[in-house]
Amino acid sequence: MFELRNVTRHFGKKRAVDSVTFDIPQGQMVGVIGRSGAGKSTLLRMINRLVDPTSGTIEFGGIEVSSLRGSALRNWQRDCAMIFQQFNLVPRLDVLTNVLLGRLNHRSTVSSILNLFTREERIMAIGALERLGIEQTALQPAGTLSGGQQQRVAIARALMQQPKVLLADEPIASLDPLNAKIVMDALRDINERDGITVVTNLHTLDTARNYCERIIGMAQGRVVFDGQPKDLTAAAVAEIYGADTAIEESMTSTSIHIPAAVAREENASAGYKPLALAGL
Ligand SMILES: Nc1ncnc2c1ncn2[C@@H]1O[C@H](COP(=O)(O)OP(=O)(O)OP(=O)(O)O)[C@@H](O)[C@H]1O
Ligand SMILES: [Mg+2]
Repeated sequence: MFELRNVTRHFGKKRAVDSVTFDIPQGQMVGVIGRSGAGKSTLLRMINRLVDPTSGTIEFGGIEVSSLRGSALRNWQRDCAMIFQQFNLVPRLDVLTNVLLGRLNHRSTVSSILNLFTREERIMAIGALERLGIEQTALQPAGTLSGGQQQRVAIARALMQQPKVLLADEPIASLDPLNAKIVMDALRDINERDGITVVTNLHTLDTARNYCERIIGMAQGRVVFDGQPKDLTAAAVAEIYGADTAIEESMTSTSIHIPAAVAREENASAGYKPLALAGL
């Protein structure tokens, strides 16, 4: 169970995340949506403690995550795996080694430096790759894989942490629709079969609706919607993305139709990430 209370992060005068309060029960699959700059990544990064809150508290299972230091902080970052839009693999290392790197937080510094992975860890890594359907790539340099395959390697690496929570920051934003579906199906499977809480930033409405039991909508650092997909009405969508923005439900990750109004809006607003384009 996550409990966020008045979590705020300033960058200079900018409030990237502004007094965010919500709870997430263990095992939920949550999508966070909002236009570019709404604070989605900052929120996820604070949960993982890649960024510290300016004020407010984040608790997980009764432990205050926001004040952890040293080994307790490293343990938290092991329990709370994170995957990114750009995969963050080591391209010249083979896939298997990349996946094994997910064990680093479980091991002593000496065995980490010597790169001594146990037979059990190697079997576990192959198992994770099999689960993601990419075991045949195990000995290839990670940088030679397609984007969809690389994201699956990143998920396999995250699984090696045996996390309680999986955070995903726009995991499908660089992928074509087929690979986007494969990656989202994998996240759903991990959520349903392993009971791991998944919190994922998404900028395609249809993906959030299809995969997430709960959607949190952010605008200018604040939570402006928190509910089930069925409650995400046109009015709620307008509040999240701004009433000035032509948002249509047809603008989905699998749609290649880009309304002219959106193209104009995209040109007019440098910070705006077009929903229809983003998932392609
Ligand atoms: N390290 C930083 N230094 C200064 N400003 C930052 C930093 N990180 C984020 N910001 C600012 O905080 C705000 C929220 O950024 P954030 O990256 O969380 O948004 P986002 O919703 O993830 O956007 P996107 O959809 O483009 O990824 C933006 O105005 C951004 O410029
Ligand atoms: Mg972001």
